[in-house]
Amino acid sequence: MAQTLLVTGGAGYIGTHTLVELVAAGWQPLVYDNFSNGSREALARVARIVGREIPCIEGDVRDGAALDAVFAQCASAGAPVTCVLHLAALKVVGESIEQPVRYYDNNVQGTLVLLAAMERARVRRFVFSSSANVYGEPEALPYTEGHRISPTNPYGRSKSMVETVLRDVATADPSFSAVVLRYFNPIGAHPSGLIGEDPRGVPDNIFPYITQVAVGQLAALSVFGDDYPTPDGTGIRDYLHIVDLARGHVKAVEYAMAHPGWLVTNLGTGRGTSVLELVAAFEKASGRPVPCRIAPRRAGDIGEAWADPSLAARTLGWTAQYDIDTMCADGWRWQSGNPDGYTTSA
Ligand code: WQD
Repeated sequence: MAQTLLVTGGAGYIGTHTLVELVAAGWQPLVYDNFSNGSREALARVARIVGREIPCIEGDVRDGAALDAVFAQCASAGAPVTCVLHLAALKVVGESIEQPVRYYDNNVQGTLVLLAAMERARVRRFVFSSSANVYGEPEALPYTEGHRISPTNPYGRSKSMVETVLRDVATADPSFSAVVLRYFNPIGAHPSGLIGEDPRGVPDNIFPYITQVAVGQLAALSVFGDDYPTPDGTGIRDYLHIVDLARGHVKAVEYAMAHPGWLVTNLGTGRGTSVLELVAAFEKASGRPVPCRIAPRRAGDIGEAWADPSLAARTLGWTAQYDIDTMCADGWRWQSGNPDGYTTSA
């Protein structure tokens, strides 16, 4: 029997890179996206990489009737949805503090509507895009999956709430499978340079900010604090290559198809990199200077965060392969070839 993998938010940064790896692994993804952050051009680029169009339905996860129609359409076409990979969400921490209702509506209510539609369609395999943000201030590092859950902003709380819902659903229905992926800091781009991160407006995250400085779109990077208790005083994070992250999703879907129950796992490298180390690696990889100025700490930032990735290795058979130099080289290839992101004609 043919089967469909529904990928909500498939037109976004993580979604497009995950589509490439899903197709390579033999899956038939169907994208469901409201294009609030993703783009049709990004999906067209994915088609160029994989050699075929990826079917896409424009829609919002808060539209239960639209979701019912998608499940019914796939079933009547003889390719029922057998698993949902739920990537659609709002993800900017600062914005979530200013607009909590918008974040809970999209991220929590949207997931509840999706889960109800899945229940009606008897779809019981679910892979969820969560975040290391749920941990909050580290009690100890590296973060293990058993670390205290103590998010400090509405974005992180929205992800933590959904994790709790999924655990309850898996308890109520032992045949249900929920795999929760806690992302650390995905950066970089597909080695083809055809797809990459293209944030709307001025980037909040450091890597697209650095690449836009290097390509001349922005003047200089503000380093948010050099007085953390770290070797060079700047913040440390666990950056992982977006292609490694994408491959983690393929492993998670395979796991969900074979194992009912609730599994939560970190997706990180287990290695920490400081802001200044990242800048230096990027300058080396790109050959471009990245002017920096030291600025005050950003409210809500923590000094250090990196993952214990051993559970993903044991359960999913997944380990990150790429190093920071490769992340920087691939990220530069995307940005230098697409200085205006997807509006650049490729
Ligand atoms: C990384 C480091 C900053 C920008 C957030 C979310 C997390 C995930 C990834 C969704 C920190 C420093 C940053 C800048 C800087 N998103 N920095 N100048 O905050 O670790 O994580 O994005 O899942 O959930 O919380 O990522 O890239 O914003 O910051 O110095 O202009 O770079 O202080 O040390 P963060 P980031």
